[in-house]
Amino acid sequence: MSENLHQLRCFGCGARIEGVEARPDFRCVECGELFEVEYPGWSERKGPDRPNPGALKWLWRERRSSAEGLDHSGVWRFRELLPILESFGNAVTLSEGNTPLYHLPRAAKRLGIDQLFAKHQGMNPTGSFKDTGMTAALSVAKERGFEWVACASTGNTSAAMAAYAARAGLKSLVLIPNGKIAWGKLSQAMDYGAVTCQLKADFDGCLTLLTQIVQEAPIYLLNSVNPYRLEGQKTPAFEIAEALDWNVPDHLIVPGGNLGNSSALAKGFREMLELGLTARMPKISVIQAAGANPLVHCVNDSCGNFLSPVEAHTRATAIRIGNPASWRKAARAILETGGWCLDVSEAEIAIAKAEIGTEGLGCEPASAVTLAGLKKLRAQGKIASSETVVLVLTGHTLKDADYTIDFHRGTLLTAEEGAGLESEIAALQRNAQVVEATSAAVLATLKGIVG
Ligand code: F0G
Repeated sequence: MSENLHQLRCFGCGARIEGVEARPDFRCVECGELFEVEYPGWSERKGPDRPNPGALKWLWRERRSSAEGLDHSGVWRFRELLPILESFGNAVTLSEGNTPLYHLPRAAKRLGIDQLFAKHQGMNPTGSFKDTGMTAALSVAKERGFEWVACASTGNTSAAMAAYAARAGLKSLVLIPNGKIAWGKLSQAMDYGAVTCQLKADFDGCLTLLTQIVQEAPIYLLNSVNPYRLEGQKTPAFEIAEALDWNVPDHLIVPGGNLGNSSALAKGFREMLELGLTARMPKISVIQAAGANPLVHCVNDSCGNFLSPVEAHTRATAIRIGNPASWRKAARAILETGGWCLDVSEAEIAIAKAEIGTEGLGCEPASAVTLAGLKKLRAQGKIASSETVVLVLTGHTLKDADYTIDFHRGTLLTAEEGAGLESEIAALQRNAQVVEATSAAVLATLKGIVG
């Protein structure tokens, strides 16, 4: 029996098609918008395909101690809400998901918030949240018989895609902006055997070119325009609710680049609410780097109706994106839930990243925009001290070690970027020191710090 219960619905005009009918670029033939996966059986109150909330909560918890491979995945553990494959036996998994929800006591104290958590998606097998989406979409590619998969990337998507393709025995093509991705990510794509092309183009240019290529050759597109990516990426929402005993946080704060992730998490929370697993939605806020902030203008100046692309510049290379594909979905998530969209400066990102470091957690610069954004929202009085806040940390600190070292050596920011924040920055910097190899010299160094 097929385990596939889904269809695709256009986010623009509402047209519905079967999954196999989607064009290679995943755009609607009628209006050019992107699709969303939908499960028609769920809308019937007592239909046979409608999941039972109480039974699911029990089953999902039981699976954490199961010996079956698929149950070890924090994505496929929730497979009742992910019926996108003909057979779950075709799932390609690296035991992704099941990432920790850490309390952030120091930041919580500084900001006067009782309950502040970080959902650390950097603790996935390839070090970013992309693994949760890749296990879903690459499994579809494999099931449908593709030999080649491809993505344009600022680095993390390519690392995840290359790993899952290698696992499945598929060949992978990566298009990346030349010189604008962190080495840690590029090294992963190489190691996992992807054909990697560094193009003289930015991320948006890479994605436009790839959209053309997949229409000329039988290559399966694995960027987040692919709606199955978002199905996998919605599952951290289930994990967050489960970890909070099926309570939903008041605020979810997500970094914004191509805007697939914020859209996916919103879908996860929306589905839980519709199925009666939870009682409400969190307010979803999306934070961008000031140099790559098209959604900020879109939401605040046009109520989510228009997006004017920008030429993107930020050292948080993961979100160096000026023409995000999923902007309509993300804008809807923010506006429908009553969240906010704002941007943060390069110095604010660097400081927030170092502050997260002081909690014993590392993350990418792109992930740190969440804490920088929270500080602003709190200062603007938009988040009350009694509210629960979850920051989504999207990538592991080791992805971009150069950034961290430059920050601590004082070579990351220009004087202009750091202006007014010099003492805050200096208090966080911990450059390595050259010390003579004697106990006296090492102990003198400690004295210098303590005293
Ligand atoms: N954080 C990290 C670490 C990322 O790698 C990305 C996106 C984002 C946040 C933004 O997520 O695009 O869903 O809004 N990286 C993509 C890539 C674009 O190619 O790896 P988004």
